[in-house]
Parts: sequence; structure tokens; C-alpha cells
Amino acid sequence: MAFLPSWTCVIVGCLSASLAVTSNLSDLYPPLWEEGPSQFSDYRMKDGQYIINAWVYPERMGMYKILLTQTARYFERFAPENEQNTLWRLPLQHGWQCSTLFFITIVFQYIQGTQYNNKKCPLTFSSACGLNYFLCVLPFLAVVDSGVMGISSHQVTLLSPPRDQYLFCFNVSTCRSSFLETMNKWNAFYQHLKLPSSTFEDLLKYLWAAHTSVLTDTLKTFESRIKLKNCFMKRGQKFKEGKRDEIFGYCASDFPTTLIRTHDFQKGLSPWMLVTGDTAPFISDFTDFGNKIL
Ligand SMILES: *[C@@H]1O[C@H](CO)[C@@H](O)[C@H](O)[C@H]1NC(C)=O
Ligand SMILES: *[C@@H]1O[C@H](CO)[C@@H](O)[C@H](O)[C@H]1NC(C)=O
Repeated sequence: MAFLPSWTCVIVGCLSASLAVTSNLSDLYPPLWEEGPSQFSDYRMKDGQYIINAWVYPERMGMYKILLTQTARYFERFAPENEQNTLWRLPLQHGWQCSTLFFITIVFQYIQGTQYNNKKCPLTFSSACGLNYFLCVLPFLAVVDSGVMGISSHQVTLLSPPRDQYLFCFNVSTCRSSFLETMNKWNAFYQHLKLPSSTFEDLLKYLWAAHTSVLTDTLKTFESRIKLKNCFMKRGQKFKEGKRDEIFGYCASDFPTTLIRTHDFQKGLSPWMLVTGDTAPFISDFTDFGNKIL
């Protein structure tokens, strides 16, 4: 996959210039952050396992909330209120996709037949996009596996979508067998998280190794099995071939993905897929900051 390393310095430059003055960090949380589950016991339990439906937005946000809450203690030494938790990028990106109508998935059919009822965030079905699923589920199952959560790796089961189950994995052991390298990289991140000697830069390094591994590992799977372009739609049109790297350019930029920085960065991201003729910095329906980033 082609990454765009040159973005990184541009982006970091923009960010440094535009960090928000924030009085209350909770204003920066993703949409409906407060409404989802915030601990394992908020999920259903069956036969000693927590059953999570990652195909609906609140339950998926709940997974992120548990992840952020349970890792907060390791980031306390960097800043108060969990602000420096580098995992913020995961829920913020997901919330942004939802709230900006950026990702619409044609894999939408997955959701038909599942209990989908969320008027405030009508793009919940964007969660069905396969890549998004893994961006959430692999770090989540890896943290369970790492021992950070204090529960056994047998205790979490994700529900399968109504169709195309063969594309996905639903518990620690099956995700480990399909995506061993990525699960190991996430595990390495969590092990370093636990070490008091790890620096913030160390943690970023392990985080990015794990995160980019999810992208490359699962894109391989998905490109061979479904047409990824069908995961995206813009302004009523079909996703264009060749634009994918613009999205993943964001994912690949290794800037500190803390709460404030990620939030501010996302303000500059395109709320739409670009089309031919969109020329930054003159795209009329983007913010100034968005045009500048592009
Ligand atoms: C921040 O906002 C939340 C939710 O609106 C509120 O519960 C909390 O008390 C606020 N914190 C501060 C420090 O104002
Ligand atoms: C994980 O999923 C596989 C396949 O669905 C199943 O055979 C296995 O029993 C599950 N493991 C646990 C611990 O639930």
C-alpha cells in the first residue's frame, strides 16, 4: 500500500498551529460517547462470555470506551484526564466517519436483519465496512489477550454479521489465527504500555506499527474478497478508484494521536470523498483548515 510520508510534516505543522483551546475535554469525545457500554458488565453475558454486537455503533463505541478507560492509568504520567492516551484516534476516527457521512458502506446489507435503531447516528451501518471492523476488533481483542483488562481471553465473543461471516473473526483465538502478526504487534504495544520505563515516543512507535499492520493485513484479505471501493460513496456517487490512498494517508501519518490533536486534525479532514475538479485550497464546501491540510 502506498503511504504518503510527506503528509506527516505538513499535517503536524498544521496541527501545531491550530490546537484547540479546550476548556472541557469531554466536548471533544466522539458522538454518543456517553451512551454506549462503559464496562464489560454492560454487555450481555452468556455461558460465561460477554457478547458484543460490534455491528451497531453504541456497542462498538462501548468497546473503545472500555479500551480507553482501562488503559488510562498508563497514560496518567503524561497528562491528566487521559488526554495523552494515544488510542483516542480509534474512537474519534470512527465517530468522525459516522458524523460526517464520510463512510457509507454498501456492505450495508450486513445490517439488514440486525437490530439497527439509532436515529442520532444514522450511519451506524458504516461500521459494517470490514476494515473498520478490524480497526476496532483487533486492538480490542488484543488488549483482552494482553491481560490489561483483567479478564480471560476466552471471555469475549463478538457477534457475526448476518452474512459473509467468512470475512471476519469473532474471538481472540480465531482472530489470532487469521491475523497473528497484527495481534502480536498490538500485544507488543500493550506490553510496552505496562512498562513504566516506556516513553511516549516508544508507545507511539509500537502503536503505529500495530495500527498500520491492521491496515495492510486486513486490506489484503478484503481486496481479494470484496471490492473495497464499494465501502465508500460520496455525494451520492460511487467511490473512485485511486482515491483510497487519500484516506489511508491519514491513517499512516504518525503524529501523536492524543485526544486534542486527533480532534483538531479531524476538523481538517474532508467530510466528503474528493472528486475530479476538487482543487485545494479552493474547495468551496471544505473549511479553511481542511483546504490547508489537503
Ligand atoms: C465537562 O462536561 C461534562 C459533561 O458535560 C460535565 O459532566 C463535567 O462536569 C464538565 N467538567 C468540567 C471540569 O467542567
Ligand atoms: C472462537 O470461535 C471459534 C469459531 O467460531 C469457536 O470454534 C471457538 O470455540 C471460539 N472460542 C471460544 C473460546 O469461544
